[in-house]
Amino acid sequence: MNKPEKISQLIEGAETYIKSGNHGKAQQKLYQAFSMANKTQNVEATNKILDLLQTIGLLATNLQYVELKPLKNEGLILDIGGGGEGIVGRLNGEQVVAIDTREEELEGTQNEALKVVMDASDLKFLPDSFHMCTAFFSFMYIPKRKHLKVFEEVYRVLTENGKFAVWDVRIPASERKFKEFIVPLRITLPDEVVETGYGVKWQVQNMEHFKQIAHQTRFQVVNEWSREEIFHLEMIKQG
Ligand SMILES: C[S@@+](CC[C@H](N)C(=O)[O-])C[C@H]1O[C@@H](n2cnc3c(N)ncnc32)[C@H](O)[C@@H]1O
Repeated sequence: MNKPEKISQLIEGAETYIKSGNHGKAQQKLYQAFSMANKTQNVEATNKILDLLQTIGLLATNLQYVELKPLKNEGLILDIGGGGEGIVGRLNGEQVVAIDTREEELEGTQNEALKVVMDASDLKFLPDSFHMCTAFFSFMYIPKRKHLKVFEEVYRVLTENGKFAVWDVRIPASERKFKEFIVPLRITLPDEVVETGYGVKWQVQNMEHFKQIAHQTRFQVVNEWSREEIFHLEMIKQG
């Protein structure tokens, strides 16, 4: 079966599940179809899938694009929420210590990083342990009430002038009626392109939210950008 046929079949399957009220199964089919439609840049199918996702309470943004090169850093990099695709581990390999609260997420991650089950709001490292810390689309998964504590912990384990780099997505208050939020991403790395989607329960957040916490925790923001729905912040620990 060719790709367009497979996508149509998945969409039809999802519609049947929606009619019978089985939203969980519908969601699975739609995610599969979405990933295929994205890869083949099938705009018509993508729009249809987005409409169907909305009918079951899930709001997906348009496809967002990120391009990354290996991070320039000497020594170890602490990657918060480094399970999933393990993007920072793919970029910087053995230099990375990837922590995640979910063991199964780390088990499914294929890269050279050292993987440790740990909560970013309760880091087990001594102060001044890392020159760099990253959080690649991880804060969207961390409950908002923990964000300040995570920043405080990262500040503690970073060395003086250590860098904290965050990539994340704007989740707007205006669409709160949806129960879940998904950001489909095409991540271009030097040797590969990763197509993925990060989905979470609705939790309003934007770059200002993180800049405020950076200010509160005495990080200095040295670089920032935002493009469509996603943003990036680079912060330095200055004591
Ligand atoms: C899906 S990943 C985000 C993308 C990932 N960084 C990548 O490169 O693909 C987000 C991860 O954050 C983890 N997480 C949630 N709360 C956390 C916490 N308090 N400390 C560490 N990891 C956490 C989730 O288990 C999830 O695996």
